[in-house]
Amino acid sequence: TQYTIGYIVGSISSTSLNRKLAKALAALAPENVELHEIPIKDLPFYSPDHDADYPQVAREFKQAIADVDGVIIVTPEYSRSIPGVLKNALDWAARPYGQASLDGKPTAVIGTSGGPISTAAAQQHLKAILSHYNAPTLGQPEGYIQALPGLFGDNGEVTNEGTAAFLRAYLDAFVALVGRYVDVKDASVA
Ligand code: FNR
Repeated sequence: TQYTIGYIVGSISSTSLNRKLAKALAALAPENVELHEIPIKDLPFYSPDHDADYPQVAREFKQAIADVDGVIIVTPEYSRSIPGVLKNALDWAARPYGQASLDGKPTAVIGTSGGPISTAAAQQHLKAILSHYNAPTLGQPEGYIQALPGLFGDNGEVTNEGTAAFLRAYLDAFVALVGRYVDVKDASVA
């Protein structure tokens, strides 16, 4: 089966390590998976004032989530949680009420930072949010990547073969989760 998976990067930094990690995932994706970014950087701040008439950029963001079979969130940790830009994007996805974009959507979280516990604390918060959205989320393996200097290049390179092997295994596990949902959905349509 061919799968389309989107990734959201929880950083808008021009030198983001997490975007490098996302590009590495895209480069390592199995042949039957097309992996592309769902951008968040142009979303304004969410407010319920927008619910009656979502701006075009937010409609496109929600449509981009609707169009993929699964979503990988690749995020930094800010102050032991997720960055505000990512939470803002998730708030857009969650609304208007009754039209939550991630309801039932297979998701996975992963992230990198220089610290020895990487982005573990942020990922726990993020998993709690995704659980609230009723989004089935990959449990194992957990994607805590310590960004040792030079680990990632700008164009998807990974300099450590052990890390590359881990990322391939992580993608395989997520594709298996996505398949459990997509194939069931296809079968019920047939
Ligand atoms: C950080 N950083 C950080 N790192 C971490 O492991 N745990 C943390 O709680 C924090 N907190 C934090 C807060 C703020 C405001 C900033 C700017 C940074 C460091 C962070 O991991 C580092 O800047 C990464 O490079 C951020 O990811 P991107 O933007 O490079 O993908």
